[in-house]
Amino acid sequence: VSVVAIDVAPSASEATYQVRIGRGLLAEAQDTADGFSHCFVLTDRNVAAQHLKSLGPALGHEPAVLEPGEASKNAATLTAVLESMAASDLDRQSLVVTLGGGVICDLGGLAASLFMRGIGVLHCPTTLLAQVDASVGGKTAINLSSGRNLAGTFHQPLAVLADVDTLATLPEIEFRSGLGEALKTALLVGEDLLHLLEGQAEAVGERDPDLLQALVAGCVRAKADIVAADEREEGPRKALNLGHTFAHGIETAAGPGRIPHGQAVAVGLAMAGRCAEACGVLEDDTLPERIEAILGALDLPRSLQDLAAAFGADLTPTGVILGMRHDKKGRAGTPALVLPRSLGKVALDFEPEDGLLEKVLA
Ligand SMILES: NC(=O)c1ccc[n+]([C@@H]2O[C@H](COP(=O)([O-])OP(=O)(O)OC[C@H]3O[C@@H](n4cnc5c(N)ncnc54)[C@H](O)[C@@H]3O)[C@@H](O)[C@H]2O)c1
Repeated sequence: VSVVAIDVAPSASEATYQVRIGRGLLAEAQDTADGFSHCFVLTDRNVAAQHLKSLGPALGHEPAVLEPGEASKNAATLTAVLESMAASDLDRQSLVVTLGGGVICDLGGLAASLFMRGIGVLHCPTTLLAQVDASVGGKTAINLSSGRNLAGTFHQPLAVLADVDTLATLPEIEFRSGLGEALKTALLVGEDLLHLLEGQAEAVGERDPDLLQALVAGCVRAKADIVAADEREEGPRKALNLGHTFAHGIETAAGPGRIPHGQAVAVGLAMAGRCAEACGVLEDDTLPERIEAILGALDLPRSLQDLAAAFGADLTPTGVILGMRHDKKGRAGTPALVLPRSLGKVALDFEPEDGLLEKVLA
């Protein structure tokens, strides 16, 4: 399989960077690292066990290894990582290399943006979710006790190496989670990308490397276009939050790390479709059912009941709505929703009337 290279141009003031998507790409990380004084590799225990050696002996030596999972995306771990960067004698010409899922990208990107007021970062995403979404676009964050992603920065990477070979070792639930985030992007761009998930769900589920490369490339291309139009999420970039206010409500209600992000996004997409239907913004009446059918074909949850059954989480509509009211995208207490109108078209900043969410979620 040949490499697909996509340029991301976040804004006039920031350098364009390349996202490379293909097989065996982790071996290229050393080439990027060669121009830097020191490299600091940040990974988690699961990923280190499977993929650290693919970075080669020089980079794979003495990484910082975090506990896997969302629970590591906190201020205490961030501080420990920054201390460890300082103790490793990093300077302004040093590079952070993240090797892992969205948690490692978000935390490593934030650490790179803070250390000495900002050093370079190379993302090597190893989950489907991080390859299609978290590694591209420059958002970094940690969670605070009152909500997810509440402290963060915009810090664009110098490059992204999305090695689809790493996806072979992903646990099934995490792989499916990435498909949830990919479906969100496909709903924003239209038929071509959606067809890959809808028409070839089985082969995608079997992790055919060619299909995965096409899927990641399609999502990255779409995100690159959106980020180029609106790096700081003042307008069109908000579309990328399709399904996410619902998902954050679900994740907050279930408790941190209980439900993989993309699984919550999957249910969030179904809810966004039903909400669009209930409040009259829908232009294509068939869309909510189509979303739910694709979720089914991809073996993703469609409802709070599905999530409760799969993850043993205690999820009530009231609890989820309470979580949604804390979402940072809304004005105090009122969630601002992104709702689908038709394939490729969304309504932004939709503030639901009192009682509407209760009706849809019930
Ligand atoms: N910055 C952004 O734009 C953005 C976008 C979407 C999501 N996110 C964030 O991403 C996070 C979720 O990311 P995630 O789903 O990748 O979770 P994650 O980083 O926790 O990874 C999921 C699990 O998979 C394991 N894993 C990772 N790669 C593996 C591999 N190749 N083989 C075997 N195991 C592997 C990890 O150890 C972990 O247990 C959330 O915190 C979310 O907020 C950020």
